[in-house]
Amino acid sequence: MTDLSLFELHLNETRDIIKAFQLEMDRGLALKKSSLKMIPTYVTMPTGAEKGRFIALDLGGTNFRILELSLKGGGRIGTSSNTMKFVLPQALLTGDAKSFFDFIAGCLKKFLQKYKLESGKDFNLGFTFSFPVKQTGVNSGRLVCWTKGFNVRGVVGNDVVSLFNEALQRKNVDNVIISALANDTVGTLVAKGYENSDCDIGVILGTGTNACYPEEKLDGMIINTEWGNFNKLKTSLYDRELDKNSDRPGQQILEKMVSGMYLGSLAGLVIKKDLKINIEFKTEYMSVIEADRSAGLSKVASVLRKTGIAKSTIVERRRIKKICEAVSRRGARISASCIAAIIKKMDKRLSRRHVVAIDGSVYEKHPTFAKNMKSCLREIFGSRSSLIRMVLAKDGSGKGAAIIAAVASRK
Ligand code: GLC
Repeated sequence: MTDLSLFELHLNETRDIIKAFQLEMDRGLALKKSSLKMIPTYVTMPTGAEKGRFIALDLGGTNFRILELSLKGGGRIGTSSNTMKFVLPQALLTGDAKSFFDFIAGCLKKFLQKYKLESGKDFNLGFTFSFPVKQTGVNSGRLVCWTKGFNVRGVVGNDVVSLFNEALQRKNVDNVIISALANDTVGTLVAKGYENSDCDIGVILGTGTNACYPEEKLDGMIINTEWGNFNKLKTSLYDRELDKNSDRPGQQILEKMVSGMYLGSLAGLVIKKDLKINIEFKTEYMSVIEADRSAGLSKVASVLRKTGIAKSTIVERRRIKKICEAVSRRGARISASCIAAIIKKMDKRLSRRHVVAIDGSVYEKHPTFAKNMKSCLREIFGSRSSLIRMVLAKDGSGKGAAIIAAVASRK
């Protein structure tokens, strides 16, 4: 039986993470070798006064969205019902750049046609592209590497906005100007920051995970940390096994311990070892299992039935619940420690309020992830932790990209 204390993260270890994370941030900013890319984004915080109608295209996983929204100034964002969701066909994820961007441009064309926006007026578009992009300007940047299982050929090293523009030309879409390219964390931060000036960290805890913040030394320019790749963490044999069998061993180590793409598989490895049950274990199961408070753990039983395990004992179900709790709790505490590191970098003594804008399925849907993060911050900062408020910034990434487009197009 696995000793689940393997997944514990004690207060002294959170302090080690904070220190190591700060060192890596400094190294990354100084362009020294670091697991944190610390990418300058050419974006600063909005004032809240930005106005106009914009289109946002939000691509960061196999589901992507296109929406129109209007910024009303005074920190208000108007809701528009003009929105469409699309699913990227699996084959495109390992195909070539042309097919990939043609598909996206085709979806944008459908959107414009559906809402009768394809002529008469030019639109500024904010493009949220949630991968490590080395920005060269507010609306240009080259892909450094793919993450989250994407592997489209011919994109790494190239400017994603040019690739998208070429596809738009092929599809005869001529009234859309891509005026901003943004990471989802940056969109999330900017969207919350538009309404609330205390907001100074944007975090994604979903399929992937990452965070950004405005860097004082760079006149408040927002830095995309790409924290998913942080690798100064104590790993267990299960983490090492998962990493070894992943498509990119050695990369995205933190992401493999925290995000929705991997948490379920990690718990699955422990379940396999302890109970000799070999199932494809999804992160969403963890939410159902950990929320099950019934005496007989009937929800755990029904999740197991779904995966083909018709019968299970209460002892097995209890064990599975414990494993899920241990794995997700560690993920929450790692995330909280890295947030603490960023806050301490901006405000050493925690002397002012900080709103942390967070989006993503793990944060939103998991029953105890947010709570465990909060209690970890309380351990780290004591009663001063009440100055830190974590808020769900739902769909912030798309909205934020539109706001960035607004700022950029005004300039
Ligand atoms: C991955 C990407 C990063 C993104 C995160 C959340 O870590 O590399 O750019 O922000 O996923 O979607």
